[in-house]
Amino acid sequence: MNVKLLSGALGAEISGIDLTDTSDQNFKKINDLLLEHKVIFFRDQPITNEQQIALAAKFGPLETHAYVKGLKDHPEIVRIIKGKEEKNQWGENWHSDVSYNSKPTKAVILKSVKIPPVGGDTCFSNMELAWETLDPKIQSKIINKKAVHSSLGAEFFIDNYKYMEGNEKRNYDSYSNEHPIVRTHPETGKKILYVNWTYTKQIIGLEKEESDQVLKEIFEHQARLDLTCRFSWTEDTVAIWDNRSVIHYAIADFFPGRGLGYERIMDRIAIEGDHPQ
Ligand code: SIN
Repeated sequence: MNVKLLSGALGAEISGIDLTDTSDQNFKKINDLLLEHKVIFFRDQPITNEQQIALAAKFGPLETHAYVKGLKDHPEIVRIIKGKEEKNQWGENWHSDVSYNSKPTKAVILKSVKIPPVGGDTCFSNMELAWETLDPKIQSKIINKKAVHSSLGAEFFIDNYKYMEGNEKRNYDSYSNEHPIVRTHPETGKKILYVNWTYTKQIIGLEKEESDQVLKEIFEHQARLDLTCRFSWTEDTVAIWDNRSVIHYAIADFFPGRGLGYERIMDRIAIEGDHPQ
């Protein structure tokens, strides 16, 4: 096995592990790497839908997305599509997947299907480091507080992205839940800064103005480049991220003459998480 770190903060590219080996022993190796590096990448993995599902199922029960329809024969897999002419891309701002759910996603397994020759990298930021390096004045302000996370409704997920299909029963509801701002990772016991620019709306117990100010400072801190890594995709790469301890950002840098005019397609499976504590 070979492990190549992507940055000083998080992320590793791994080779020499068979992702189709679903033995407990192999799964433990993969999960240990995930807990250590928080996001791990495996290039040149032409695995089938079934093999991707089998790998994901080792982590726990699979999640159904609130708004977006899965593949016809594999409803567990959401196909993320950026069309040739689209500038928008799913996941194009800092977020932790579905943090508005009462039990947000534990981990995601994303497989690249079609990748443009330029553009469409994904960035990840380490929320354990973000907590450790946060200004102590802000730390003491938020340590035992909760924040409201709200979804942006189906419009955000589907109407913005022409080739993404909504669930049969088109659901325009917005979901909201409260979560601790500093959560404890259930497997490592580490503290994690658990808010994100896309879904976190307000700190409970602070006036709106103060809450907005504190959140603004936290969001700027979370995006500090020294807390991040950036990954340039090639086709048939499998990424696994720990959605509890990272936020991520799919860069929509598809500008005329530089990458516009290409499709980008990813197959995404999410694993159910627990109530953040
Ligand atoms: C996501 O935000 O879940 C998608 C990330 C990506 O397409 O790179």
